[in-house]
Amino acid sequence: MKTGNNNEIRRICCIGAGYVGGPTMIVFADNCPHINFYVVDISKEKIDAWNNEDLSKLPVYEPGLDKLVRECRGKNLFFSSEIEKNIAKADMIFISVNTPTKKKGIGAGKASNLIYVEACARQVAKHAKNHTIVVEKSTLPVRTAEVIKKILGETQNSVTINSCKPTFDVLSNPEFLSEGSAVKDLNEPDRVLIGGESKEAIDILSEIYKNWVPEYKILHTNIWSSELAKLTANAFLAQRISSINSISALCEATGANIAEVSRAIGTDNRIGSKFLDSGPGFGGSCFKKDILNLVYLSKHFGLPEVANFWESVVEMNNWHQHRISRLIVQKLFGTISGKKILILGFAFKANTNDTRESAAIQICKDLLEEGAHLVIHDPIVNSNQIAIDLESNSIVNKNKKVIYKSDNYEGNWSYTDDINSEFVNTHAIVILTEWEDYKKIEWSNCSKLMKKPAWIFDSRLIIKPSEVLAADLNLWQIGYGT
Ligand code: NAD
Ligand code: UGA
Repeated sequence: MKTGNNNEIRRICCIGAGYVGGPTMIVFADNCPHINFYVVDISKEKIDAWNNEDLSKLPVYEPGLDKLVRECRGKNLFFSSEIEKNIAKADMIFISVNTPTKKKGIGAGKASNLIYVEACARQVAKHAKNHTIVVEKSTLPVRTAEVIKKILGETQNSVTINSCKPTFDVLSNPEFLSEGSAVKDLNEPDRVLIGGESKEAIDILSEIYKNWVPEYKILHTNIWSSELAKLTANAFLAQRISSINSISALCEATGANIAEVSRAIGTDNRIGSKFLDSGPGFGGSCFKKDILNLVYLSKHFGLPEVANFWESVVEMNNWHQHRISRLIVQKLFGTISGKKILILGFAFKANTNDTRESAAIQICKDLLEEGAHLVIHDPIVNSNQIAIDLESNSIVNKNKKVIYKSDNYEGNWSYTDDINSEFVNTHAIVILTEWEDYKKIEWSNCSKLMKKPAWIFDSRLIIKPSEVLAADLNLWQIGYGT
């Protein structure tokens, strides 16, 4: 039932059932049993997966998520492909669709592609009834709310298919969750940011959050500050990683140790200890995309120096990933053609099944270009996803083993779900994701089976050097100068 202009929100529709829309609405539903949540998506496959009885088949893996789905689904949480109907019945609509970087046209390679956001706005404009609060949950370029408002405004000013004309408020409420800890981040956010022009609409959304978030953590800003703050937060976080990764290269050259340097600088309260872990370079769907968006906006507003400053963060990340691939080739006597290399981890970080922009993609492509035979393991990511990311097709070889290849590179790869069976004749093991399982490897057992001289490359600083060295293995760790 629609509530019209009163402040009571009974029914929320979220457009987009991805890594943000899904977990966000699940946590909302858990904390707000008095509100019904309808999560809709154009992908029927995704909606079916969210409705799967087997909770291990949910489309997003996040610790603790399956338990919440079991508790809320069918009570006050529904996943549906009926987009129009759910828009029409909603008091509040979250837009949580993807905003990838544009591949073609003006701003290609940098600007956000707002095609999905625009499509949502048009659908909302067409099907909403009475008063509806539209909330931007997707990460959007500054002033996107203006576009949404214009599209919705056109509806307000024209004859619509509805008997009564809908009215709208538009709010920006960016999401700050990190994958792998989404449930915790949503339940205990550092802050909730709400930007908008209508105080009434801001208060209504704040009231919903107040069901579980302390009031002092709910920040109100104007709509443009809210949009820009989201891009800026990601840019600052990514900048820290590029900064520490740049220093890791210097550590290796000078004999310093990046873990010691990180600890030494992180104890300065002004710097802080978080986001100072050197690794194989930042991945994830957003850091690169959001910085490039900032670069595009800076150029658009005539600020080339600002654009260059932020672009260098992405350039450092690209360079750093290639640096690791080059270093692996060098340590293996300058050639890896035909050599078996075990890759541990493909997700862009631990505790997620997401591989978008994972450092593993670029590093594996580099090694495949050099002709290596990779055996890839990840506890959650499956071979189909890896084949998409590495743009390869499967073939069955004469030993009836599935091998993946592409015309783009000389080498090939296979997938394993049992690393213990793959140590035999392996020249090198490369750790790319910090999964707990990899901390438990018995290096003495694995050393007996590997091809000597064998190398372990630890890009996540998760293994104990003494155990590897005692097992007669060569070790490279990120930022560990000798
Ligand atoms: P995603 O690709 O996982 O999910 C987006 C979903 O939207 C897809 O399932 C797609 O089918 C659906 N969709 C697209 N157009 C649609 C339409 N017109 N109608 C219905 N459904 C439609 O993306 P995501 O990772 O959830 O990211 C969504 C937004 O949130 C992006 O702007 C991203 O920058 C931002 N964000 C992401 C994260 C994260 O951790 N992934 C965190 C904070 C913010
Ligand atoms: C990041 C931000 O942390 C979230 O606040 C934001 O909401 C989200 O992007 C988004 O907008 O999409 P996420 O990408 O899920 O979250 O994960 P992070 O923990 O930030 O890690 C990003 C990448 O940086 C990973 O590849 C990770 O391994 C790497 N990283 C992180 C490091 O190399 N070192 C660190 O110290 C921290």
